Amino acid sequence: MSLKAFPGGVNPSPPTASITKVTMPALAEMKRQGKPISALTAYDYASSRLVDEAGIDLLLVGDSLAMVVLGQENTLAVTVDEMLHHTRAVHRAVHRALLVADMPFGSYHGSVAVGLGNAIRFVKEAGAEAVKIEGPRVELVRALTEAEIPVVGHLGLTPQSIHRMGGYRVQARTAEAVLQLKAEAHALAEAGAGALVLEGVPREVAAAITAELPIPTIGIGAGPDCDGQILVYHDLLNLTFAQPAKFVRKYADAGALIRSAIEHYREDVEHRAFPADEESYHLAPEVRNALDATGTANQNSGKLRRV
Ligand code: KIV
Repeated sequence: MSLKAFPGGVNPSPPTASITKVTMPALAEMKRQGKPISALTAYDYASSRLVDEAGIDLLLVGDSLAMVVLGQENTLAVTVDEMLHHTRAVHRAVHRALLVADMPFGSYHGSVAVGLGNAIRFVKEAGAEAVKIEGPRVELVRALTEAEIPVVGHLGLTPQSIHRMGGYRVQARTAEAVLQLKAEAHALAEAGAGALVLEGVPREVAAAITAELPIPTIGIGAGPDCDGQILVYHDLLNLTFAQPAKFVRKYADAGALIRSAIEHYREDVEHRAFPADEESYHLAPEVRNALDATGTANQNSGKLRRV
């Protein structure tokens, strides 16, 4: 831990006075005004502060954390408790963005009552301002809305359906599938969803749904015509170790930057170039003098800068 930050722990928050909080109604207003919505995932305090301070509108604690943070093969194994743990960390960092938590696989696939109970945990125990659920779960969306929990729907390529889909594949490629997706999108909006993530669908389909729907659509692999866009933090910064999907644009190579900084640090340690005397703490002169007088001071002490 950095002693500079001790004992206060977390570094001071940015001033909040001039910040206008993004809310679910604010996203609807952005759609009405034709103002694009920026969204990004984040999973911990430091990255969430950077995302929030960069002015991103919607911050999603995505269950993609199973893969990009926990190193799991897909999103299925991450638990409610793990998602709550990360959502709490993000909540401590975020002042402006709308904080949305992903409900993990299994937490809402049984009864509506169980889904509602788990969603309440995200709001009550972790500070989520909305939850995201995958698939056309209209009854659950209605129940969450009645319980005052804003919902973001997620249709198209829904990663929690990996086994049903037979892999991560672009969805809604046939006329029949397009009509079904449109019907599901309308049903979610009518049930009260405040926004809809459209993932892995043809551009034309996302554009048509965006034009028809009263609520904002947020695309990922769905082309440029959605009301907003979302990416995974680790994809945007090249912090993943897999071949990126076609829709990913790498805005920086943080992976290379971090690797090079760590190699540099290791070399400095190996060559005793780190830490320098300026990076060391020193005894007060009177203590040094007292020790010198007893002859117990470090033999190298003469070479060291005095505090
Ligand atoms: O978990 C996630 O990161 C997501 C986004 C990709 C939409 O669901």
